[in-house]
Amino acid sequence: MRHLLDTQTLAREDALRILDVAEDMADTQQREIKKLPTLRGKTVVNLFFEDSTRTRISFEAAAKRLSADVINFSAKGSSVSKGESLQDTAQTLQAMGADAVVIRHGASGAPRTLATSGWISAGVVNAGDGTHEHPTQALLDAFTIRKRRFGDASRGRDLAGVKVTIVGDILHSRVARSNVWLLDALGAEVTLVAPPTLVPQDVSGWPVRVLYDLDEAIAAGPDALMMLRIQLERMGAAYFPTEREYSRRWGLDPLRLRALGADSIVMHPGPMNRGLEISAEAADSPRSTVLEQVTNGVSVRMAALYLLLAGADDPTTEIAKETT
Ligand code: CP
Repeated sequence: MRHLLDTQTLAREDALRILDVAEDMADTQQREIKKLPTLRGKTVVNLFFEDSTRTRISFEAAAKRLSADVINFSAKGSSVSKGESLQDTAQTLQAMGADAVVIRHGASGAPRTLATSGWISAGVVNAGDGTHEHPTQALLDAFTIRKRRFGDASRGRDLAGVKVTIVGDILHSRVARSNVWLLDALGAEVTLVAPPTLVPQDVSGWPVRVLYDLDEAIAAGPDALMMLRIQLERMGAAYFPTEREYSRRWGLDPLRLRALGADSIVMHPGPMNRGLEISAEAADSPRSTVLEQVTNGVSVRMAALYLLLAGADDPTTEIAKETT
């Protein structure tokens, strides 16, 4: 794998390979093998032009657990504020020895530009670009659904027939887009639920069913209900229901939580607006996978960095060799 830029063009086999390698990585963590030597001598640069807690720290932890060196770059406090371009910033970091660049950027397409421009030779991982995609989030979500459903028998399994309902600010959500493409590739049935103002114009071309009524969607018995953050910072001129109305009609309150089927899980990529799209009761309930998603994110990002940088033909075998 040369780059990881999106899930829309990620082949099903490649997605399953990442999920299966992530299983191996998770095993090493469970066996309390804190560090693998796999990426010793490699340098991973975290290039973050937008704020992040989970993704940035998770990539840093993943790289360190694979023994890579990590350089963290945040646009805040850097020469970006003096007008330095993406090209010059990236080339500066490459000159310091970057083998992989993990980039989060407010502009949709910035990671692809970096990967295809010829400015740098490092592998590029998209850590979220504008409203476009957030592929490692979708991979960790798929990993989490698979793990909850199949447990230790997850390896090699897809999500055929699994019903996933994604609720909220679809319009601005790169998480929703990445999940739609990946879940579809893995055979899941995806339903989107949102106020009409927060549904993208091009949704008719997506492999999804669209509903506007959350209660109707819950009555259909989803296996996973994925609540999205209302992205107030990207709302712009779009009409947005008042927070009170949103919370009443599209929020996962205790009543809706209790209407979910016995085995349904509640997901949220974080950060959460508690009391708006999700109640504290739902966020902290045993059905909630919020913290599992965070834990799984490290394994999935270890797998992505491994496949990008180690170049092993049979990664499973290689990891097994290193841990025995
Ligand atoms: N889920 C997610 O991308 O969270 P951060 O913005 O904290 O990285």
